[in-house]
Amino acid sequence: MSRDTACDPLPSVGRPARATLGVRRSASAVIGRVLERPALYRLWQRPFVYAKFAPIGRHNDLGAVRRVLDVGCGPGTNAGWFRHARYTGIDLNPAYVAYARQRYRGDFVVADVRGFVPPDGARFDFVLANSLLHHLDDDACRELLPRLAGCVSTDGHVHILELVSARRPTPAWLLARLDRGSFTRSRETWLGLFGEVLAPVVCESYAVPAVGPTLWNMLYFKGRPLAAAG
Ligand SMILES: C[S@@+](CC[C@H](N)C(=O)[O-])C[C@H]1O[C@@H](n2cnc3c(N)ncnc32)[C@H](O)[C@@H]1O
Repeated sequence: MSRDTACDPLPSVGRPARATLGVRRSASAVIGRVLERPALYRLWQRPFVYAKFAPIGRHNDLGAVRRVLDVGCGPGTNAGWFRHARYTGIDLNPAYVAYARQRYRGDFVVADVRGFVPPDGARFDFVLANSLLHHLDDDACRELLPRLAGCVSTDGHVHILELVSARRPTPAWLLARLDRGSFTRSRETWLGLFGEVLAPVVCESYAVPAVGPTLWNMLYFKGRPLAAAG
């Protein structure tokens, strides 16, 4: 496993005032509605897409990947890395999926990943969840992660990029609070959830962007299904 820096736990901040909570929820809802438009989401993410994906590039030979399952694929953000492979992307947002279908090769499916069953018992050597799981509560994560582990081929892995909670008051803390996903977790909590079904192969904390003020504290986790790893 990669050596890694410990992540500060989220400090106790007390109960936020009702008005503050209301303002945050409204701001988050407005941002959410704007970012549901594929072109605007792409524009907002464009400067950061490479930095978010960088640890996957460092730890894997992407050219050797054969079959990809990308859950919460958005408007095809990650599809371009896998042009040579058989790629399936799944997302809840039909506008994202329509956008991705116009731009990338592959199968793009509108579906809730929580109920996804791979067609014909398909197995994937690269199962990717980039910034999806902080949209799901613990129960949903516990439902999804074993499903993902069950889709992995004998030589494959699950690759997770996730948002880690940040200390306040920093830009990263503010962006996490305003994020559409309500379930940003500490590094320890993420590792606990992943560890229920996956044995870690790589576990790396990193900042996005890599230089300048941190906007997102991220975690890259690469794991093997526990049953297979045992
Ligand atoms: C932060 S975006 C990340 C998109 C993409 N993976 C990327 O790297 O840009 C989270 C994505 O998860 C999708 N999503 C959230 N909950 C979902 C669910 N239950 N099933 C399928 N997709 C979901 C959203 O529609 C959104 O596209």
